Amino acid sequence: MHQFKYKAKDLYCEEIKIQDLVNRFGTPLYVYSYHTLIDHFWKLQRALTEIKPLICYSVKANSNLAILAALVDRGAGLDIVSGGELYRALKAGCPPQKIVYASVGKTNAEIEEAIKKKILFFNVESLAELQNINRIAARMKKTVNVAIRINPDVEPKTHKFITTGKITNKFGIDFERAYGIFLIRNRLANLNICGLHIHIGSQITESAPYIAALTKMADFIGRLKKIGVRLEYLNIGGGLGIIYDKETPQTAHNFANKVLPLLKETKLKIILEPGRFIVGNAGILATRVLYIKSTPKKKFIIVDAGMNDLIRPALYDAYHQILPLKAPQNAARRSEKADVVGPICESGDFFAKDRRLPRLSEGDYLAVLGAGAYGFSMSSNYNSRTRAEEVMVVKDKVFVIRKRESNSDLIAHEMIPPFLLRL
Ligand code: LLP
Repeated sequence: MHQFKYKAKDLYCEEIKIQDLVNRFGTPLYVYSYHTLIDHFWKLQRALTEIKPLICYSVKANSNLAILAALVDRGAGLDIVSGGELYRALKAGCPPQKIVYASVGKTNAEIEEAIKKKILFFNVESLAELQNINRIAARMKKTVNVAIRINPDVEPKTHKFITTGKITNKFGIDFERAYGIFLIRNRLANLNICGLHIHIGSQITESAPYIAALTKMADFIGRLKKIGVRLEYLNIGGGLGIIYDKETPQTAHNFANKVLPLLKETKLKIILEPGRFIVGNAGILATRVLYIKSTPKKKFIIVDAGMNDLIRPALYDAYHQILPLKAPQNAARRSEKADVVGPICESGDFFAKDRRLPRLSEGDYLAVLGAGAYGFSMSSNYNSRTRAEEVMVVKDKVFVIRKRESNSDLIAHEMIPPFLLRL
């Protein structure tokens, strides 16, 4: 359950009226509920308590230092995919021994840095990468822990852009090639292959795809045992879905009931990499209605946030619930269908299409829900728009966790060659 609720006529985040936040900080504004964030982390931790998993929150979902620090403070590890995320993870105080590193395209510099910092292990996605890490480790005179990311070829029943465990996807290594790698593991003298990894997709609402993948993994682990392979970890990735619209996703409890028997049987230490499940419903994007525009065919609510702030509708046709910060007076006002659109010069710049909304006026404020995951972290400066401010609410207190960018931030890294300088 998230903590964005109406109290009387106003939408609150925990104990703070969001209207007060937009008056104070302006819009577009990302508002996060600290307790929703922590609650979701605990829900998963509690459901799986029997196996004492290491939950490595997936930094890409929302990489703000305050979000990372809040989770690290509660014992979370972190799942990273770049040198930049490693930097953030360490700045947020995450012990390196709780960091796992995936990505199909790690550069040598990124690999070296992660080795130097002594992360728990790399999730390796190809034989070529494995050989490269081995070479780098040899040069650095180190033995490096790696897990093999398996592509188990299962259908997660989610959007095709966020399906990652089918054999046609670029991620992971198929079972037969992975088996071949274990046969030649002695040649990879500077690697300790200590685990297996899967991540089959994102916004997965059922347990069946996990069961399918884990059943295949259990079978594979059995085959490996027969050739004397000793593993320590099984990293089952992230992907747990949340409610954006009318989904009925598995709860942490149901998920745990389904997967625990399979996980226990492996006798390995279990790692999870949830992102969206933890932070998705812990954040909203608050925005102000700039104009209302009627055309012969449509009504448009034009707001001051755009696809540069939250790209999910544009990119995946994703549904996000939209609520006015002031509850409508009576149901009869909920009469209008409209598109909620941003100011960006693209027709893909929308938050909702033909959505039934209460009648709105210029100057009203809206909250786009479910914006905590893949919201700010996928935001950009497109159309030279400064990125939004981010605040975290903790009961009746609010903390700025990223200040609004300024116009000078936009050009901070740009240079005009001297021959073009007129001043
Ligand atoms: N582990 C790995 C290796 C991943 O690639 C991902 C997400 C996760 C964990 C976390 O997945 P989650 O628990 O959040 O589903 N931008 C898309 C989602 C892309 C997910 C990419 N990988 C969206 O907005 O729906």
